[in-house]
Amino acid sequence: MTVEWQPKIVAFFCNWCTYGAADLAGVSRLQYPPNIRVIRVPCSGRISPKFILAALRNGADGIWVSGCHPGDCHYIEGNYYARRKFTLLKNLLEYTGLEPGRLHFSWISSAESTKFAATAQKVTDAVLALGPATRMIKKPFLDPIGSMAESSR
Ligand code: FES
Repeated sequence: MTVEWQPKIVAFFCNWCTYGAADLAGVSRLQYPPNIRVIRVPCSGRISPKFILAALRNGADGIWVSGCHPGDCHYIEGNYYARRKFTLLKNLLEYTGLEPGRLHFSWISSAESTKFAATAQKVTDAVLALGPATRMIKKPFLDPIGSMAESSR
């Protein structure tokens, strides 16, 4: 029996909106793929590009960042900063060869549970179509001195 590969998607959700939408989708018994590992943050503006790189280096196949709609951020402009940071990082990662379909950004309010479920499906389908991500995974440390000692034996 073979086990079909399933993507691991790390999702960074703002506590005030998308996290609430995920909660509402669960309470409303809406169906969405179970591939999403949620990290709740106080605001999408809190998400450092380093968090996304760390997730990719540690084996995430896709990333989904979601925050409050423009004008609805509890910290006034955190989501605008998030959008700028994410756009720059996405362009940079595409330049290094990462497929654009691995990175997703959305605005979802806490009342939009159906949008949440639909976006979760869309993100999962996009990552599933690309297959496992291997480009950014951290390689085991190679000790140059140790490997030279090995080769001289
Ligand atoms: Fe939700 Fe800033 S509080 S994105």
